[in-house]
Amino acid sequence: MKEVKIETQLKVYNDINELPNDIQKLMESAIDVRGNAYAPYSKFKVGAAILLDNSEIVVGSNQENASYPSGLCAERTAIYYAGAKYPKAKILKMVLTASSQNQVTETPIPPCGACRQAIAEYEIKQEQPIEIYFMGAKGKVVKSNSLANLLPLGFDRSFL
Ligand code: THU
Repeated sequence: MKEVKIETQLKVYNDINELPNDIQKLMESAIDVRGNAYAPYSKFKVGAAILLDNSEIVVGSNQENASYPSGLCAERTAIYYAGAKYPKAKILKMVLTASSQNQVTETPIPPCGACRQAIAEYEIKQEQPIEIYFMGAKGKVVKSNSLANLLPLGFDRSFL
């Protein structure tokens, strides 16, 4: 028997103003599109913006459904659209913001497990890390240099 320790490394910015200019701009796109979320059930709105290596920005917001599991998170709405519209482009950066109607969300909101799995698929496919930045509605922003940092022991195509 041996014990294995898994570590991850993140960067924490105090707020959006501390971010590099291009990320600030990307985050502003995510904040804008967060307003387009269709979230009548959870009242929790999420916006995602993706920068591609062809300089295009693709955005997405969460889209809910009366049949709850039929809804889709902002991250997957955005990344599947990027894959559908620009199948050859590489994803360089992805930024996320979330806001709840019930409270001012100051905690950085990370992507859910299902979205991490979806983003991991594209990171593996393109053989290049995707930078991820996530925040709440205001306050601190967390950066991960790659999706892999957020999904240790992930399931991937090598097991199939
Ligand atoms: N949601 C996202 O859009 N992304 C996540 O990573 C977590 C959750 C959405 C799904 C649902 O519409 C609402 O937030 C509450 O879970």
